[in-house]
Amino acid sequence: MEKMPYQPHLDQRPMPVSMPATEATSSDWRSGLPLLTGSMVTLRELRMSDAPSLLAMLSTEEVSRFISPPPTTVDGFERFIAWTHRQRVAGQYVCFGVVPHGSDVAIGLFQVRSLDAGFATAEWGFALGSAFWGTGVFADGARLVLDFAFEAVGVHRLEARAALRNGRGNGALRKLGAVQEGVLRRSFLRNGEYLDQALWSILDEDWDEARFTARAVVLH
Ligand SMILES: CC(C)(COP(=O)(O)OP(=O)(O)OC[C@H]1O[C@@H](n2cnc3c(N)ncnc32)[C@H](O)[C@@H]1OP(=O)(O)O)[C@@H](O)C(=O)NCCC(=O)NCCS
Repeated sequence: MEKMPYQPHLDQRPMPVSMPATEATSSDWRSGLPLLTGSMVTLRELRMSDAPSLLAMLSTEEVSRFISPPPTTVDGFERFIAWTHRQRVAGQYVCFGVVPHGSDVAIGLFQVRSLDAGFATAEWGFALGSAFWGTGVFADGARLVLDFAFEAVGVHRLEARAALRNGRGNGALRKLGAVQEGVLRRSFLRNGEYLDQALWSILDEDWDEARFTARAVVLH
């Protein structure tokens, strides 16, 4: 078992566990993630060349204040990227880089990790550079990730945890149709303080209904 070097909002728990590949079919995602194309962004496997951009986008105070601390160097992000590829090969985790149309590099991440042996229950997390907040990039990318998780990976229940103080994180989940199930008291240690987190879930049958609304959110 290997410790996860960086988990946007996926908390601090170790995960069970190479080459990057960028084009594959959805069904063989363990050997390489497919390209997922939305109206504003493409989602793809992370590449080493994304490291400088991810460092610039995700290491700012406003992005990282409610997530596990990101790497602080380009080297650190390169190690994280290599780790994401190994985790995907192991079939326990996927990490998509968010690449806006017209750009070559990732400006954020969506991660999904299995919470059981077979990926029926999973947890996701996400972070975008703050220049892209409120632009529709989140909803566009989230729709692609949710389709992928429920259809290609076979997730039945997808959880998310967001610090109660994280207004944007909770707002983003709410507008996708996620259901807040409760509050995990003092569950996330950040900057020496235990924060309460909201526990959110989306079920595969929820998403069958909500996806069209979510798509409308993207287009308006
Ligand atoms: C989480 C994140 C990816 C969402 O992307 P985003 O572009 O900010 O999200 P959106 O603007 O599409 O949606 C956020 C919603 O929350 C709403 N919102 C913002 N601040 C809010 C607050 N304090 N309380 C409630 N809702 C709030 C927004 O109005 C928006 O809803 P709307 O589109 O209906 O107006 C992005 O904010 C981010 O990277 N944050 C830092 C990393 C992070 O915290 N990740 C963990 C999330 S659990």
